[in-house]
Amino acid sequence: MIADNERERTWDGYIAARGKQSKLTRFAKTSLSRIAYLTIFPKIRVLAYRMIGVHIGQGIFIGWACYFDNVFPELISIDDGVTFAPFVKIIVHEHAAGHGPGRVSPVIIHKNVYIGTGATILPGVEIGEGARVGAGAVVTKDVPAGAVVAGVPARVLRGGIDRVTSEE
Ligand SMILES: CC(C)(COP(=O)(O)OP(=O)(O)OC[C@H]1O[C@@H](n2cnc3c(N)ncnc32)[C@H](O)[C@@H]1OP(=O)(O)O)[C@@H](O)C(=O)NCCC(=O)NCCS
Repeated sequence: MIADNERERTWDGYIAARGKQSKLTRFAKTSLSRIAYLTIFPKIRVLAYRMIGVHIGQGIFIGWACYFDNVFPELISIDDGVTFAPFVKIIVHEHAAGHGPGRVSPVIIHKNVYIGTGATILPGVEIGEGARVGAGAVVTKDVPAGAVVAGVPARVLRGGIDRVTSEE
């Protein structure tokens, strides 16, 4: 679960706590992120995102041309069995000079979630186990386990807790 104080971190506050990264580290992360975006080999995508710090479980499929925020990839957690159709975006920050303190907030995707093509997951969102996210959805709020969500902003189409497989 994402704690309230993790959802509310500012750009400067997060970087002060984490420490600045060297240009070389940023270059390496950006390059690996582009490799993940462009490669035709799904296993290389997973490997490249792991190498830049995304927390990725087992049995994950990432479709081509997905973009996982390479500025703070360590804030993205993807549990086992998650599937991403092509063109999915996961974003964990919003910040532009002169437009306030910005925001840096994690995204957590639990087991066996399915994310449809072109969906965008915004900072501070947690997607519950077994949920399905519709094509083109913009997910601005937490998604309950087993739910089907779609639309802009994403709304729950169905509850569907029968899809949850964990016994927790
Ligand atoms: C969201 C989704 C999982 C729902 O599928 P479903 O349970 O069969 O839902 P239905 O087709 O019965 O649609 C239910 C309602 O939601 C709407 N809806 C379905 N998908 C939608 C979407 N992506 N965005 C907005 N509305 C959507 C339908 O128009 C319908 O609305 P209505 O009740 O007003 O007629 C599915 O439509 C979807 O988007 N799947 C992703 C497909 C994909 O990305 N494939 C990638 C292959 S690589």
